[in-house]
Amino acid sequence: MSGVPRFRICADSGLPGAALEAWRRDGLLVIEGFVPPSDCDALCQSADQLVDAFDPSEVATVFSTHSHEHAASEYFETSGDKVRFFFEENVLDDRGLLTCPKALSINKMGHAMHDLVPAFQQFSYHPRLVTLAAFLGLDNALVLQSMLIFKQPGIGGEVTWHQDGTFLLTEPQSVTGFWFALEDADLDNGCLWVLPGEHHKGLRQRFRRIGGTLRLEDLGAVEPFDLRRKIPLEVPQGTLVVLHGRLPHYSEVNRSARSRHAYTLHTISASATYLADNWLQRGPAMPLRYLSSGEPV
Ligand code: FE2
Repeated sequence: MSGVPRFRICADSGLPGAALEAWRRDGLLVIEGFVPPSDCDALCQSADQLVDAFDPSEVATVFSTHSHEHAASEYFETSGDKVRFFFEENVLDDRGLLTCPKALSINKMGHAMHDLVPAFQQFSYHPRLVTLAAFLGLDNALVLQSMLIFKQPGIGGEVTWHQDGTFLLTEPQSVTGFWFALEDADLDNGCLWVLPGEHHKGLRQRFRRIGGTLRLEDLGAVEPFDLRRKIPLEVPQGTLVVLHGRLPHYSEVNRSARSRHAYTLHTISASATYLADNWLQRGPAMPLRYLSSGEPV
């Protein structure tokens, strides 16, 4: 159904040269069977344990002392070096209390599991990813952020069309997204949709700090996304989708009775300048680490 080529890594010869051509042409690369099912299941289990241990009243406390908008913003802005939980829309009341069961209410977890949780660290700095980054020619990749997207059955919300470079920008552009299907993803449970090749059109928006506040701004005369070309990526568990920082992508709500867990990592080049007005800023206590060695910058 999809016009996007799919690849598998061959034990002897790695990825074929056509994969590199597809990456450069399309701004995305689909690799099926990249992660063994057991590794996907283990990461889901670790995520479930973190959710179990999470006390939602921590969030309620934050929300009870500020306006809802301010509290939500601050909770997000300071999550770059933490493990935090973000809820689906409309599951928190005015006091920050949950209106439905915790395990089904969480939209995502972020943004530093890869540096704080052993199971996530093992998954994120795995040699298979190091080899792939080298194949793609990613220069001195640093692991910037991690997210576990839960997309729970019946409640998992839409993620609107966006480019990851809107939220994380370097000069020159070096942001690369790694989207791992921890479970089968299809049209019913909210798979990814992509616009192959549209990364060449440039960045349309930036979400950045302006005068102490995070805002989304349009960047002017960049062509709109051509949504007539959208392609769904129905993929089995263990598939990796690599996304160029300017590749538009989207996912629908989960209308099925099945969850659609996905894990994402974003890397940047240590040789590029990470912009000071990006929302995610780490303090000196937790420097970014190289994907290849796990050593801090
Ligand atoms: Fe994204």
